[in-house]
Amino acid sequence: MPASRIVVITGANSGIGYSTTQFIASHPEYHVIMGCRDTQKGQAALDRIMKSGAIRGTISVLQLDVTDDSSITTAVSQIEQEFGHVDAFISNAGITAHEFSAREQCNRIFATNVTGAYLTSEAFVPLLLKAERPYLIQVSSGLGSLGLATDPNNPFYSVPYEAYRMSKAALDMATVQQHKRLQSQNVRVFAYCPGLVRSNLRGDSEEAISAGGAAGDPMDSAKGIFRLIEGERDSEAGQFVNESGTWPW
Ligand SMILES: NC(=O)c1ccc[n+]([C@@H]2O[C@H](COP(=O)([O-])OP(=O)(O)OC[C@H]3O[C@@H](n4cnc5c(N)ncnc54)[C@H](OP(=O)(O)O)[C@@H]3O)[C@@H](O)[C@H]2O)c1
Repeated sequence: MPASRIVVITGANSGIGYSTTQFIASHPEYHVIMGCRDTQKGQAALDRIMKSGAIRGTISVLQLDVTDDSSITTAVSQIEQEFGHVDAFISNAGITAHEFSAREQCNRIFATNVTGAYLTSEAFVPLLLKAERPYLIQVSSGLGSLGLATDPNNPFYSVPYEAYRMSKAALDMATVQQHKRLQSQNVRVFAYCPGLVRSNLRGDSEEAISAGGAAGDPMDSAKGIFRLIEGERDSEAGQFVNESGTWPW
């Protein structure tokens, strides 16, 4: 028998998606669907999470590549058949590139971080609309903030990652549009900055995972996302939130 609140997380086998799965599923009232483009990686991640011993909810793995329309359609239809609705869609899958990006690399980043996040979350809206108190969370980054990027006093001012920054700025616009369209239908839409945390986003060496030792614990991001879907920050829906408040768009 599935738990009462159904959460879908894209890119759930690694980093923030992994920790978010683990933290949300440590609560008995949740079922987390780990959307993974590679289900072998997804299953291996699920096995690791189950071994942690702290799981009191339930978890399943589903093939979901945010750049592949047939993968998205199949995932939506399977979830609809099995659960009938989705309480929270956490649009987390993302990629980056540090240096100046050639066309192919820019296109790849935009296909995942913008078109992929936007179209996948849109495909889940009909299932969100069937939930009592639905949430749509776009995992963005402070690096996408135009306000911070243009403030010479902000530490983000001089960070490169140009294609990535452009993609998160575009994702923020998608979030604003989704909020304006969906708020009257009871959907709480957020852009969420998880902070600089350990993950495979920047590469798989220890130096890259830890961002040279500067990265925090993705479990803190997971807890932040949990607070959003628990309704603790509903009054900030439609904004670009982080752990200590909000970012300018
Ligand atoms: N870590 C940070 O410091 C930080 C800071 C700000 C924002 N963020 C954002 O946080 C989100 C999660 O990133 P992370 O840091 O946890 O990085 P990560 O460890 O690299 O995880 C990214 C996840 O996205 C998945 N993914 C990539 N392309 C996909 C696709 N086409 N379809 C489905 N899944 C796909 C990856 O799957 P594979 O394992 O198969 O590649 C992986 O599971 C991203 O949106 C990122 O921009 C991270």
